Amino acid sequence: LVGALVAGIDAGRGYTDWPLMGGEVLPSESFVLVPFWSNFFENPALVQFNHRLLGYIVLGFATYVWLQGHKSALIAVRKWFTFGFAALCIQMVIGIVTVMNSAPLTLASLHQLWAIILICVLLRGLFEVLYPAEQSVRG
Ligand code: HEM
Repeated sequence: LVGALVAGIDAGRGYTDWPLMGGEVLPSESFVLVPFWSNFFENPALVQFNHRLLGYIVLGFATYVWLQGHKSALIAVRKWFTFGFAALCIQMVIGIVTVMNSAPLTLASLHQLWAIILICVLLRGLFEVLYPAEQSVRG
């Protein structure tokens, strides 16, 4: 949903440096619009910053979830959690490459398509947790 805000106002076309944005951590133009709240939806600087930040937070949380999933005795859970974490890392890389190339159609579409693949892989992992398949003790 936060990605849709970026795509919706073409906020991925500016601030093409990474990890900084225009040489700053938080661009100085982030809160120039009035009223204040409109910056969160209409200011390309803040909209892109928020999407990047949420991506980093999700990556941190996903690392924790992946490590937890790795403790599972179920092979399928371990496998799908690893796929999920790998898919998330790939999504991060595609997002970064997209923004560094000023969001061309091909890369932006790949980033959007991969988000769908990512959700599917995560749902598969969740399914393995909720409805575990029978497994032999011999593996
Ligand atoms: C958890 C990681 C991420 C997820 C799940 C994610 C998801 C998405 C989605 C679904 C969209 C497209 C929305 C739409 O077209 O309606 C999008 C757009 C975008 N994302 Fe991400 N994203 C992630 C991380 C990042 C990162 C780390 C960056 C850059 C540093 C980034 C840069 C962009 C840009 C530039 C767009 C706009 C592309 C366009 O103009 O169509 N994303 N993101």
